[in-house]
Amino acid sequence: MDFKKHIAANIKAGDLSRDEIYAMLALPPNTEMGDFALPCFKLAKTMRKAPALIAEELKNAYPADDKLVSEVSAVNGYLNFKIDRAFWAKETLGEVLEKRDRYGASDEGKGKTVCIDYSSVNIAKPFHIGHLSTTVLGSALYKLHKFLGYTPVGINHLGDYGTQFGKLISAYKRWGKKEDIEEGGLRALNALYVRFHEEAEKDESLNDEARAYFKKIEDKDEECVALFEWFKQLTLKDVGKIYELLDVHFDSWAGESFYNDKMQPVIDELTEKGLLVESEGAKIVDLEAYGMPPCIILRSDGASLYATRDIAAAIYRKNTYDFYKCLYVVAYQQNLHFKQFFKVLELMGKEWAKDLVHVAYGMVSLEEGSMSTRKGRVVYLKDVIDKCVEKALSIIAEKNPSLENKEEIAKTVGVGAVIFGALYNNKIKDITFSYDKVLNFEGETSCYVQYTCARANSVLAKGGRAQGFAAENILPQEFEVVKQLSEFPSVLKDALDKYEPSYIARYAVDLAQKYNKFYFDCKILNAQEQEKNFRLALTEATLITLKNALSLLGIGVPEKM
Ligand code: ARG
Repeated sequence: MDFKKHIAANIKAGDLSRDEIYAMLALPPNTEMGDFALPCFKLAKTMRKAPALIAEELKNAYPADDKLVSEVSAVNGYLNFKIDRAFWAKETLGEVLEKRDRYGASDEGKGKTVCIDYSSVNIAKPFHIGHLSTTVLGSALYKLHKFLGYTPVGINHLGDYGTQFGKLISAYKRWGKKEDIEEGGLRALNALYVRFHEEAEKDESLNDEARAYFKKIEDKDEECVALFEWFKQLTLKDVGKIYELLDVHFDSWAGESFYNDKMQPVIDELTEKGLLVESEGAKIVDLEAYGMPPCIILRSDGASLYATRDIAAAIYRKNTYDFYKCLYVVAYQQNLHFKQFFKVLELMGKEWAKDLVHVAYGMVSLEEGSMSTRKGRVVYLKDVIDKCVEKALSIIAEKNPSLENKEEIAKTVGVGAVIFGALYNNKIKDITFSYDKVLNFEGETSCYVQYTCARANSVLAKGGRAQGFAAENILPQEFEVVKQLSEFPSVLKDALDKYEPSYIARYAVDLAQKYNKFYFDCKILNAQEQEKNFRLALTEATLITLKNALSLLGIGVPEKM
């Protein structure tokens, strides 16, 4: 039941639509004032009256026989509503307990396909902490879209094309050993890459050799292609382990090289439409009129670029999936790149260019300092996850030595901490990852939320599940929980509209905090029968909702902790 919608339908303010009023209804900071409030100063201009007067008039006009609303008041230009709390509680808990793991789900996205390009790793390059955000943000957006009825298509736009593979072949042939690479995987490949750069600084000719090898890959030389495929398999095997830990999945692995044979039609079309111009030997699309540097389509040596591939990829995705939206979860450093190629598509007359969205996010750094791939100073994501799991294990072992399955639980807690740490802040913010912060059991963390779930589980194990419940005389602490529970569907909708999984993470912490306040203030197991039943139902509804929230972020919940 959407209480806001119900109230909005009963207010007639000037010629404002129901949706406009709905959007204006706010949650007052303090529930003593009311459960919803309409700030009337926003109406003063159009209604040409003082806010206080408008509030008074609207109050008098509100239908007196509305059973849902127990009180309407006009205070300082605000029109405040109190909802009948027992009714609200009954409706909300009833809905959560009935829908269970589907609570919050909807079919608003029915029939709409949304392509989501995320993680998009580079072959033979380290999978480092810089890839954390795109991976977990993209995956959360994937799960969220699915939950709200969309058909998401997860795409890993592999970085599997470029001169660096020529460098790698050169380095491998000079210094590599098959067994070492088989064994060391991505890290061994990266070590070769680093060595290449060191040696090339002393000996320029190495770069020519690398270029020649790259050309050989392009010309489908058997040996070079086989080596490249091997590098690719090693990379995918290594990152696959991380995806499994993080519960991340893809529907398509079409990477940059997939578009090798799909760029010529793009170049033809650009030429035909008079968009391609020559500049210093290169072929470009001039974007000066839009305040941007030109988008380079072909280099002077005829090679295509990152943008050329992205243009071909967007067209391919539109033709293949007929997407409603196509999201690119990529760091803000690439803002210009996305602006440029979106504009090129628009100039090509693709009306769907407006449906391409760059979901930009900020940088993640580690407290210990920055890194550089070329110099080999890399913070591998796998190491960060392992360290978090290890730390989680020692905390759990200390808190609860007799707990069974500690290893398994530490994995869920440690991995959750990494994901939640990356998703908790507004995505555009740069963040510094801190082990102590993400594993603080009293902080705004996933382990705090997981711990609250374990608490709820233990209450339910002792008290049993409520067999029906009546809602009467709701206490403020109980009501705070109910209200928060009822917000879940609209939080999910906002999170999707703004591409902000952080809303879900914050929501989970808020709900856990409100439940814990209730837990410490109110007896549950020793309460009278009717109260006990209501509180057990409240506990179960909280557990269900917290689990749903965390699972949308890719985080599991242990029974016990
Ligand atoms: N592999 C690229 C990088 O690491 C990201 C690719 C993002 N996706 C895209 N369609 N451009 O920078």
